[in-house]
Amino acid sequence: MRQAGRYQPEYRAIRKKLGFLELCKTPDAAAEVTVNAVRQLGVDAAILFADILLVLEPMGAGLEFAAGDGPVIHRPLRSAADVDRLLEFEPAALEFVYETVRRVRAALPPEVPLIGFAGAPFTLASYLIEGGRSDDWATTKGFLFTDPGAWDALLGRLARAVTAYLNAQIDAGAQAVQLFDSWVGCLAPADYRGHVLAHVQALIRGIRPGVPVIHFGTGTAGLLECLRAAGGDVIGVDWRVDLDAAWARLGHDVAVQGNLDPVALLGPIPEIRRRAATILDQAAGRPGHVFNLGHGVLPSTPVDHARALVDAVHELSAR
Ligand code: CP3
Repeated sequence: MRQAGRYQPEYRAIRKKLGFLELCKTPDAAAEVTVNAVRQLGVDAAILFADILLVLEPMGAGLEFAAGDGPVIHRPLRSAADVDRLLEFEPAALEFVYETVRRVRAALPPEVPLIGFAGAPFTLASYLIEGGRSDDWATTKGFLFTDPGAWDALLGRLARAVTAYLNAQIDAGAQAVQLFDSWVGCLAPADYRGHVLAHVQALIRGIRPGVPVIHFGTGTAGLLECLRAAGGDVIGVDWRVDLDAAWARLGHDVAVQGNLDPVALLGPIPEIRRRAATILDQAAGRPGHVFNLGHGVLPSTPVDHARALVDAVHELSAR
């Protein structure tokens, strides 16, 4: 999950000097952000500091992170012709990401694995089509319902790009990869099966064999069986579903990641510990539970609360 960010004073200090995209493109600084989060929180794994939208820039979508407004795509896709104009992704265009991977890997102790990541085709398409964030993804779904052929072409291109991008992160030293389908929960299961599933399957099948894939989405209580069918060694779930119920539906032969509400970190530490214990009880000591938040850390989170969660999970799950 996103574990580095604006809730950390060290991160805010670096961001005073570098814009967000500039930071992503400066391997020294990006590696420092990753490693600092691991040290500060005491987590068991590192996640690369980068962004899911970086892959869209070399495909010709003007990408900007505007202060306060989140990401902006300057030339949103609105037609089949727009899809045709996208450039084929060249993995070498994101060399700065692979350099960050190498630097993080060199700086981390060997027992802390590094997770690389990318956006899933649906979530990337939603930014390309909406031009930024959305509350209802009406433009994205409107595009899909109006021109399913162009949609299919778009998701095919994104899936190919992401496969190549993740494999390049793996070649640079990432030991697991996470696929973020953050907004896929807005789809009906039939639309996922008809217009998304095959692309995610192809993407995941293309990842270097032996490297664990974490497949994450939010609001996916209605889509768990679909995500499982699409693939991944670990399925990430958010707090809108009980972890034990989600795991029973997914099957205990797949690992699960989750699922504390990130807002819980704003509450008092004893309450954070109680909620962590509830999730661990639901996992019931089975192998294959990766404790995590159900989504990224909020900017208003006190750092000591995030640290207290990590300590609580270590204490309560010690064998
Ligand atoms: O721990 C880490 O190093 C985090 C690395 C990371 C970032 N983005 C850095 C980031 C990861 C794993 C992501 C993934 C990402 N980016 C997702 C999927 C995960 C999720 O949260 O659903 C998505 C949807 C994005 C797109 C994106 N990037 C948005 C919507 C925003 C704005 C949101 C906000 O909080 O303002 C970003 C910007 C972004 N990406 C920030 C960080 C730390 C905040 C940028 C800043 O410093 O102002």
